Amino acid sequence: MQYSVNISEKIHWIGVNDRRKNLFENLWPLPNGVSYNSYLFTDEKTALIDTVEMGSDGAYLERIEILLNGRDLDYLVVNHMEPDHSGEIESIVRRYPNVQIVGNAKTFKILQSYYGAFCNHLLEVKDGDELELGHHKLKFVFTPWVHWPETMMTYDMTERILFSADAFGTFGTLDGGIFDDQTHFSFYESEMRRYYSNIVGKYSGMVQKAFVKLANVPVRTICPLHGPIWRQNTERVLSLYDRWSRYEAEPGVVVIYGSMYGNTARMADYIANGIAQRGVRDIKVFDVSKTHLSYLINAIWEYQGIILGSCAYNGEMFPLMDLLCRTLVHMNVKNKSLGLFGSYSWNGGGVRNLLKFSEEIGWEPVCAPAEIAGRPAIDKYADCDALASAMAVRLLGEEK
Ligand code: FEO
Repeated sequence: MQYSVNISEKIHWIGVNDRRKNLFENLWPLPNGVSYNSYLFTDEKTALIDTVEMGSDGAYLERIEILLNGRDLDYLVVNHMEPDHSGEIESIVRRYPNVQIVGNAKTFKILQSYYGAFCNHLLEVKDGDELELGHHKLKFVFTPWVHWPETMMTYDMTERILFSADAFGTFGTLDGGIFDDQTHFSFYESEMRRYYSNIVGKYSGMVQKAFVKLANVPVRTICPLHGPIWRQNTERVLSLYDRWSRYEAEPGVVVIYGSMYGNTARMADYIANGIAQRGVRDIKVFDVSKTHLSYLINAIWEYQGIILGSCAYNGEMFPLMDLLCRTLVHMNVKNKSLGLFGSYSWNGGGVRNLLKFSEEIGWEPVCAPAEIAGRPAIDKYADCDALASAMAVRLLGEEK
């Protein structure tokens, strides 16, 4: 990309679309790609807000040079050191050797470990410090663990623009529209929740602390490091993040099963149908062997109810269900209404270990698990009916 987009007269978006990478962090699928956003102030002082992933745009420096039009770069503000945003710091410092890198003490510790030899001019800021650029005045708000320990946000007090680092970012490239009012909110809402749940959700408690710090900060526009710039849906985006970081979810249910020969899968469909018959409309059913963890976690964050089913596998739960459970424990997901089910051929293991998981993560099941020996014949479904009923009551208050 050779172009830039003006956010206002002296603030420019100079982000990059990445459609080549298959997995973000070599882990999370990118079927719709991802953008790395970077921003440039061309005020009396010039300032770059974060960079992009190394090599993601061979013309990145050229685009900055065009906008600077012969001027030097005075500041490089580093809100977040993860390499999808810090990857071009070294090339920026080589091109503008007098640039002052603006960050906090934790930023500089990580910076030194990545690019130490190249970074001599450091301007350390404290929480709440301000920096005059001329017309614009920046304020730095420390938001540790949203998503790394050094993460901070930069607030432009003049135009009330929040440069929010990973917060409010989304998966998905910017296909033409850079601003939210130039594109469809529904697509980016789902991709924003997937980014949140996959990348930031583990630190939801710290997101809530960030909200407390930003409570009295008037924000007109949000410029995140991924996805569209929010200038029309600002309040909506803030509200969604607040909900997600409180673990507030929709009154629906996600049913996820691990099944070798279809017995546990049949139970999943039976239970899902039973919940639908009792009035719950938002139900998603997934085979854990087919759908990537990224989408399962996204659905878990979307809905209040979660029903997990596993066949027995060598006396344990199904291996991919075990991976999902361990990931949920690692992410410390809270406040879910849980149901459990499964099938077995001799001495079980799926449901037994799902129960251990429920104790470890601290989600009390809405009722006793439904477990079937062998093929789920029609006379074996009573416990599945009980589970469907208990979940519907939990989600709706009563069966409709
Ligand atoms: Fe988009 Fe935490 O990096």
